[in-house]
Amino acid sequence: MNAVLSPSAGSTAPSWVKNQKLIGWVDDITRLTEPEQVVWCDGSDAEYDRLCALMVVGGTMRPLNAAKRPNSFLALSDPSDVARVEDRTFICSEQKEDAGPTNHWIAPAEMRNTLDDLFTGSMRGRTMYVVAFSMGPLGSPIAHIGVELSDSPYVAVNMQLMTRMGRAVYDVLGSNGHFVPCVHSVGKPLGVGEKDVAWPCNATKYIVHFPETREIWSYGSGYGGNALLGKKCFALRIASTMGRDEGWLAEHMLILGVENPQGVKHYVAAAFPSACGKTNFAMLIPPKGFEGWKVTTIGDDIAWIKPGSDGKLYAINPEAGYFGVAPGTNEKTNFNCMASMRSNTLFTNVALTDDGDVWWEGLTKEAPAHLIDWQGKDWTPAIARETGAKAAHPNARFTVAATQNPVLDADWDNPAGVPISAFIFGGRRSTTVPLVTEARNWVEGVYMAATMGSETTAAAAGQQGIVRRDPFAMLPFCGYNMADYFGHWLTLGDKLQASGSKLPAIFTVNWFRTDADGKFVWPGFGENMRVLKWMLDRIDGKANGVEHIFGVTPRYEDLSWDGADFTRAQFDTITSIDTAAWRAEIELHTELFTKLAHHLPQALSEVKEQLANRLAA
Ligand code: OXD
Ligand code: MN
Repeated sequence: MNAVLSPSAGSTAPSWVKNQKLIGWVDDITRLTEPEQVVWCDGSDAEYDRLCALMVVGGTMRPLNAAKRPNSFLALSDPSDVARVEDRTFICSEQKEDAGPTNHWIAPAEMRNTLDDLFTGSMRGRTMYVVAFSMGPLGSPIAHIGVELSDSPYVAVNMQLMTRMGRAVYDVLGSNGHFVPCVHSVGKPLGVGEKDVAWPCNATKYIVHFPETREIWSYGSGYGGNALLGKKCFALRIASTMGRDEGWLAEHMLILGVENPQGVKHYVAAAFPSACGKTNFAMLIPPKGFEGWKVTTIGDDIAWIKPGSDGKLYAINPEAGYFGVAPGTNEKTNFNCMASMRSNTLFTNVALTDDGDVWWEGLTKEAPAHLIDWQGKDWTPAIARETGAKAAHPNARFTVAATQNPVLDADWDNPAGVPISAFIFGGRRSTTVPLVTEARNWVEGVYMAATMGSETTAAAAGQQGIVRRDPFAMLPFCGYNMADYFGHWLTLGDKLQASGSKLPAIFTVNWFRTDADGKFVWPGFGENMRVLKWMLDRIDGKANGVEHIFGVTPRYEDLSWDGADFTRAQFDTITSIDTAAWRAEIELHTELFTKLAHHLPQALSEVKEQLANRLAA
């Protein structure tokens, strides 16, 4: 049973909450935000069902046709609240320099005044949910606990799918365990008798992190990346600073297991910017010609990685669910993801079919004759042709528990994590960057990751398709000075090497090169297995490649083409190196390094110089 208590009755904590610091903090935030009632979430199925039913009555969600998609719901957001708001995201470290030139910074004292004003009475007329969650397997030495206070039931149910949430977390937290405090308000208090809207939010938005005190405050948005505070805010921005201080890594990476027909298994972690195919890669089905190979998922978005006592790097997925981009997902691009979403799924901003199911661009070749679009309007292919209206928002999302994934790795919840054999970094680049390159050493790999560029996507508000530097796919997620973050990677490499351990190999990939007609040349999806196999064979010393100015790349004959009809000429289009384009690319590296010059590790400048010299030769 939930504990539902009125704040006027004094402390609202139920008997199963023993942590006095937590109780005191909840009381403080209750006094500040003045909710009508406080609900301590227990994470039970009954609670999940009750909150979904509540949101159906309130108009936030509608149930989908139970015969087609059991226990699943659709939420349509306010049209202005559809993506992460990077320009409203702040790292409020004591020193501006610690946030670095790639983050927005406001002095902590000033920001605290602003937040005090914003949050005073911000939950009036609403329920505040106390959501205790573990990022990572409960009790794992790599995991950490957070508690989110939110006035959004949508957040509470999404957090139940996305994290290990509820009563069991209180047992781990005990009477004096540490937690990261996270406060979230949609910023729309209700007056007495005022009717709520389906998707409350506020035009003013603040996504705020205090790295020194490890606190998160989020105001004005209900969108996942801004409101599910365990994800980007805690598991990346705050956790990256924890990792810097404690010698580990919090990364925007999927983790997958790959096992060959002989039973040899490797785990790799791969960083790609938002909406660039991490979920698809994490659930890849090996293509024809790869019979007997198995790919399994540990995680699809975030990895926490710590050195083990044996000098290897061990990774966990801090999350317990997937908050993925729906458009483009279909039985061919990601069969396992489609299987995951057959039931028990929350959809946000996809279109509704006339028979009560969901649809999005790319789900089927032909669109249904009629839909209700993500803004609740009638949609037909003719309307789309005329107005360009999308049925689903390009950043429409699904939320689903990891346990729904048919290829979930047996060790996905292993508290010890899994050993990482390789890191992969990939951007979305229609030109310049070849299909795959292996770094010759750790420093060169860090350089490649640090200088990675990618075309922007709909996951963040703002213009799309613009190439920007997105170091390690962490530009929007690094909670401290990006140049220090590069240094942290270099130091970790040095330490591991000094301990005599073999460092994971580092590769960069680009699945997105286009031809003269703007069409993708590389088929991607399951075919990425060919590249993955080459990488694993390199690690095991079984594959050839050629050294060039940036690292080592395979020749056509170095990849396995069994079952494929990809030609040598096509391969050449996506692996060729245009030295003029690369000279221009190096200029962009220089621009980034100039921006970060103040803390930039010397070793990276040296790699750049060597690269420029090789290009000039
Ligand atoms: C995400 C993102 O939602 O990167 O994972 O935006
Ligand atoms: Mn992401």
